[in-house]
Amino acid sequence: MTATPNLLLPARSSTATETLAEYRARGGYQGLAAVQQKGSAWLRGEVATAQLRGRGGASFPTARKWELASAAVAEQKFVVGNGGEHEPGSDKDKVLVQRHPHAVLEGLLLTGLATGASKGFLYLIEDMHGPRAAAEQAIGELRAAGMLPFPIDIHLGPGTYVAGEETAALNAIEGQPAKPRKKPPFPGEAGLWGKPTTVNNVETMAHVAWIARHGGAAFARIGTEQSKGTLLFTLPANVQRPGVYELPFGVSFRQLIDGCGGGLSFGRRVRAVLPAMSCGFLLAEHLDVPIAYETLRPLGSSPGCGGVRIVDDTTDVVAMTLGIAEFFMKEQCGQCPPCRMETNQFVHILKAVQAKKGPGFDDKIVKLAEFSRRKGNCSLIEMAAAPVVSALKAFALDFATAAGPMPPG
Ligand SMILES: Cc1cc2nc3c(=O)[nH]c(=O)nc-3n(C[C@H](O)[C@H](O)[C@H](O)COP(=O)(O)O)c2cc1C
Ligand code: SF4
Repeated sequence: MTATPNLLLPARSSTATETLAEYRARGGYQGLAAVQQKGSAWLRGEVATAQLRGRGGASFPTARKWELASAAVAEQKFVVGNGGEHEPGSDKDKVLVQRHPHAVLEGLLLTGLATGASKGFLYLIEDMHGPRAAAEQAIGELRAAGMLPFPIDIHLGPGTYVAGEETAALNAIEGQPAKPRKKPPFPGEAGLWGKPTTVNNVETMAHVAWIARHGGAAFARIGTEQSKGTLLFTLPANVQRPGVYELPFGVSFRQLIDGCGGGLSFGRRVRAVLPAMSCGFLLAEHLDVPIAYETLRPLGSSPGCGGVRIVDDTTDVVAMTLGIAEFFMKEQCGQCPPCRMETNQFVHILKAVQAKKGPGFDDKIVKLAEFSRRKGNCSLIEMAAAPVVSALKAFALDFATAAGPMPPG
């Protein structure tokens, strides 16, 4: 495996929350001192050089996102650290905030300074007791040390998946229902209370802290040609050592599953991998493909948020696909009729497959997904379709067998 230092999860003897003194002892807040000396344009340049992309799932280039808010003229701007992780099977943001709150807070402060914000929010979900306590302790330490260039509040959103979408998070912070807004305007133009607001995932922000300390060029040396730095992955319960791992882009799922996870439990065989719930499946023949945006996209997938699911030789793939479809049906927020229709129909059609109602299901699913594309206020409408459409192709024989022959008449 590539020898790369862990940027976000340094090896420590304990998993307890890192204190301000411990974080500073390993160079923490040097990035904050550097930006206060060299200015915000310097930091925006370093993040552009780093080619950092957002780790919240959509992989948007961070420096480009920052341009919107930093160019906007407004009497007040905001910054939001998005820790609203509520995807089943993804724990990386919760682990990061709970173990290394100062790395996230330094990144949040840096993001705010780079974009001209004068107030910050760390957005968590109401059931995240450990991360909340860790963040409260860390903000208290910063306040006591006089190290906060602007105030940071913790806001707890409701326990739904869609509450992690950036404009749903903004609504939640404003005290409104946590449902996505129609875009444009984007948060960088008109976010919290109509003011320019930069929203980044908390892992993205912790990378910003590392970049400010070590430089964008050092970050860009890690990873592959178009995918820079490291990524946090969550390995599921069917490996021997489940948990959150940090690896550089360019490693393979085989290295992740066998090297970090110790392989599948009970000697089972990997049949396919779903890099995150809203991605496409990768088959066993792709286990050695380097994980990167440029290698997974042509295969109809993406690294997503790294909440990995592993299909083994005993998995009922039709039932698993139905479970994913049911999750999206339950979690869509009901605002957009095409999203309600698509997610409900996916479940209806997959239940018909299970009931052996015969062929024709795949055409219906593909047409529904095509019809619905870009018709929602947020990308859940596409996220729900990706694993279902991909499963039809990856497991065509399983679906055909489950659906049975055309009923007579
Ligand atoms: C349904 C839905 C749920 C999302 N949940 C999260 C989440 O829990 N955490 C997160 O950072 N981004 C989430 N996102 C993505 C955010 O909208 C946004 O792209 C991200 O916070 C931006 O940060 P980044 O550029 O650093 O990735 C979600 C998006 C959608 C459509
Ligand atoms: S696309 Fe779906 S989840 Fe997103 S806002 Fe519309 S109804 Fe809600």
